[in-house]
This record gives sequence, C-alpha cells and structure tokens, in this order.
Amino acid sequence: MALPEAIFKLLKPRRKASGIELTREAMANIPRHVAVIMDGNGRWARKRGLPRRSGHSAGAENLHEFCQWCIEFGISYTTVFAFSTENWQRPQQEVDSLMKLFVEFFARYEEELAAEGVRLRFCGEIAELPQSVQETMRKAETSSLQRNTLQLVIAFNYGGRREIVKATRELLTDCQAGELEPEELTEEHISARLYLPDVPDPDLIIRPSGELRLSNFLLWQSAYSEFWFAKVLWPDFSRHHFIAAINDYASRQRRYGGLSKEERGEK
Ligand code: IPE
Ligand code: IPE
Ligand code: MG
Repeated sequence: MALPEAIFKLLKPRRKASGIELTREAMANIPRHVAVIMDGNGRWARKRGLPRRSGHSAGAENLHEFCQWCIEFGISYTTVFAFSTENWQRPQQEVDSLMKLFVEFFARYEEELAAEGVRLRFCGEIAELPQSVQETMRKAETSSLQRNTLQLVIAFNYGGRREIVKATRELLTDCQAGELEPEELTEEHISARLYLPDVPDPDLIIRPSGELRLSNFLLWQSAYSEFWFAKVLWPDFSRHHFIAAINDYASRQRRYGGLSKEERGEK
C-alpha cells in the first residue's frame, strides 16, 4: 500500500487543535476558488530519512484532509498542482511512483470523496498519461458529476504555458476555417479555450515549501489572484496554516487595477 500506517503516525502530532480560527472578516470573505501548489514532499521525506515516494504519499494523505477543510470553510473550488509538464524530468522511478500513487489515491478515497460530495475534475495534457491514470480520471469524473459540495480540480501533467499554447492552436484553427477574424480576438476567446473554462479564476493561490514562484501554474488565470507563501512543507500544511492564509486573504484589498470596494463606497 502506498499510504502506509507509518505515514499516518508521522502526520498525527501536527493535527492537534491550534487555537487559531477564522476571523469574522474572513468568514464574510471566503475565497470561492483556492489553488495550491502542493510542494515540499521530497524535503519532508528527506528530513525523516525516508524515500521521496513516502513524501508523496504523505502529501496525498494531506490532500484528502485539505478537501475536508475546504468543505468546512465553504470553499466551492480548489485546484491542486500534483504533477507538472516539467516533472517528467525527475528520475523514472519517482515518475512511476507518482503515477501509481495517483491511481491508489482514488482506490483509497473514492468512497469518502463520494460521501463528502466532492466532484472530481482534471486539467492538463491527459492524453499523454499512462492508460491506468486516464482510466482512473474518467471514472472519477463521470461518477462524481452530480456531486456539489466542492469541486476538486487536480492539475496533472499540467503546465500554464502548455495550456496557453493549446488555446492558441485551437483559435488559429478557427481563424484558418474562417470562423474567427484575428482582430476579433478577445481575452474571453482565450479563456474559453483553457482546459476548464467554467472554473472561475483562483482568488487565492497558496504555495508551501518556501519557494516564491509559480512554476508554470495557472499563468493565465492568476492575473489578479492573491498569493500566500509559507515555509511549511506540503505534508505538514495543516488546518491552522489554511486558516492563517484565509485570514490574511480576507484582510487584503483587491483592486483589479481600479479602486477597492471600500474606496468605491461598498461594504
Ligand atoms: C511536490 O513535491 C510534488 C511534485 C512536484 C510531484 P516535490 O517532490 O517537488 O518536493 P521537493 O520540492 O523536492 O521538496
Ligand atoms: C511545482 O513544484 C509542481 C508541483 C507541485 C506539482 P516543483 O517542485 O516541480 O517546482 P520547482 O521545480 O521547484 O519550480
Ligand atoms: Mg518541489
């Protein structure tokens, strides 16, 4: 089993109640869509003298908990970065273990995700993935279509630049077919050709692990997202960190290049 009991024991100590809760302001300003770059699994494992794949198992376990916090806080969408178009550069053994873990995650959590009402969606270059992964995605997607508590989008073999290239290619084809004139092209045309056009842009993007970069995640969609970075490694990212991120998000003024709500005289 890819998620051994030993991993649960390692994760347990940080599950203690932290005391920090959502502020009143945060409760009134829950982000609709939170995206997470689930980074730091390898360092988490190394610190414990474990193989990298154990870090990925611990990260997967934490993803399930994270979904429960999203539901608790009333978040509608979460997109999580699980495998990038650049991650193929990792050693074959690690890539294989990540593919295997993906399939095992659903075998382990499908029932719980169903009971929790989580709808599963995927974005990325799906056709390039092993058949077992594609099959798991198809099943998870079709069996969860009617669920409506939380939409969990897993970005797998995803790259923001690749997504923009895909959209551009489709729009060029439309132009060649005479269905679109280049001067008619708008931002909406590009948004409509992304992997999941109906999913709103992320309000908040969280990156644990101490890295201060996007690493090719949601490049188009993040134009006006708020960012929250922390040194904590993803398997150690807890409800307490999540609350801190949401409280921080709620205290910011979003302006989109114009005026804030307050400045416009709105509450
Ligand atoms: C994130 O953890 C998971 C994937 C990229 C698949 P990493 O494996 O990048 O962990 P670090 O950054 O090496 O600690
Ligand atoms: C980003 O993390 C991708 C995922 C978390 C899946 P990386 O570990 O691949 O990013 P870099 O290499 O540190 O930029
Ligand atoms: Mg990393």
